[in-house]
Amino acid sequence: MLRIAVMVSGGGTNLQAIIDAVADGRIHDTEIVRVISNKADAYALQRAKNSGIEAVSVTRSEYAERLDFDRALLKALEEAAPDLVVLAGFLVVLSPEIIKKYKGRIINIHPSLIPSFCGEGYYGLRVHEEALKRGVKITGATVHFVDEGCDTGPIIMQKAVEVRQDDTPETLQRRVMEQAEWKILPETIDMIARGSIRIKG
Ligand code: GRF
Repeated sequence: MLRIAVMVSGGGTNLQAIIDAVADGRIHDTEIVRVISNKADAYALQRAKNSGIEAVSVTRSEYAERLDFDRALLKALEEAAPDLVVLAGFLVVLSPEIIKKYKGRIINIHPSLIPSFCGEGYYGLRVHEEALKRGVKITGATVHFVDEGCDTGPIIMQKAVEVRQDDTPETLQRRVMEQAEWKILPETIDMIARGSIRIKG
């Protein structure tokens, strides 16, 4: 049984996609053992509770020092003893300590086809605003392993989505979530649960 901890910051639609895929068998042999949010009011926490999944929040404002916050995040992960850490709309940069401890076992969903529109400051709607500004005809989403950099780890899976003439950042974000993110994140987790993903080199 693959034990996964899911880290969230917002609405939790990617978390919901994982919950639903576990429930209907598209993700095999997997248990979401904990949901961890850096925002106490993230609706993702409610989604976890609705599904009977343990949900905790670790917020920066509770700690005087960043180091203490990072340590609390690490502790919240260690308590869950996950095999895999899934960043699903999680907007905090993980500490080197966490990256080191879970190296090769942390995946992230990014709402573009990396290496386009990624890196510092590229998250949420900003990604889609930049894609529309550049005039790309195709965008999409990427699931990748997390390393010390920002959106730089080995790419696992990508899915392309068309950009429409009349798209706004909001309509594009929605299509990328519906047609790409909510599909490739559960699919990747299922492949990891089946032991069919290796990092080469
Ligand atoms: C989505 O655009 C996702 O790609 C990004 O965060 C946004 C919200 O995700 N990582 P969620 O609804 O909280 O899963």
